[in-house]
Amino acid sequence: MGASRKSTTARPTVLDAERIAKQLARDHQKRPALRIEQEVDSTNTHLARLRAAGETVEVLLAESQSAGRGRRGRHWISPPGAGVYLSMFRAFAGPVRRLEALGLVAGLAGAVAIERCCGVRAGLKWPNDVQIDGRKVAGCLIDLGGVPGAAQAIIGIGINVDFGGWTGPDQPWTDLASATGQAPDRHRLAATLIDQLTDDLNRFDAHGFGELQGQWAIRDVLSGREVVACGPRNTSVQGRVLGVDESGRLLLQTPDELQRLHGGEVTLNISR
Ligand code: BTN
Repeated sequence: MGASRKSTTARPTVLDAERIAKQLARDHQKRPALRIEQEVDSTNTHLARLRAAGETVEVLLAESQSAGRGRRGRHWISPPGAGVYLSMFRAFAGPVRRLEALGLVAGLAGAVAIERCCGVRAGLKWPNDVQIDGRKVAGCLIDLGGVPGAAQAIIGIGINVDFGGWTGPDQPWTDLASATGQAPDRHRLAATLIDQLTDDLNRFDAHGFGELQGQWAIRDVLSGREVVACGPRNTSVQGRVLGVDESGRLLLQTPDELQRLHGGEVTLNISR
């Protein structure tokens, strides 16, 4: 499914790998192998394909995605030049079960990168939506793989930068241009995101999500809210959100008990 456009607006600059590389932090011991494509189906899918073919690309960006993938099988609308569509490959020391909170780590890196580039406060809606003033501006999709004992992940992040006349998703959403009054430079945003994600993944790999939990909590938009969590087979449970635990699970106080919810299981609707 491609993106559709309502009117013609001036298109922003085309991404340039050298310009992004120059803006990466100098103190990173090893800069990631970066590639930019004009259009791919999905940067997550394409990066997995490249790596399966023996290529050593670690970060893939695309100007547009013809079949951008969102969570729960949804489509991620990805018009040309209107966003940052980025996937990063990462190998971890340990098994896949250590990576339960990886989506939260990616969301946090997206939020911090937006804050650093745009000077706004970004909120996090568990498990990994980034919001500004209650509207979604970025999302994350994690594809897990590897071999037993040595997990690998492709971490995909999409940020709405400037949709201009393009039609957006059918849920409350925004882009950085509308939310802040000015679209950030996509090279700076991409470089900041790569740096932040690299740092946060290193900390997560070495120490677990507990290391980042405090940073996540100060941006948590659900804490203290009454929500209805809808799970598989039309089950639903209502309760008050008490935050997230050190594994990245949502703490939900129901009338009967404290429940810990996994990210893949539920969708949340705020009831009060
Ligand atoms: C969501 O909130 O539903 C997740 C959206 C993830 C979108 C990004 S864009 C880059 C990467 N490639 C994809 O196909 N999806 C992710």
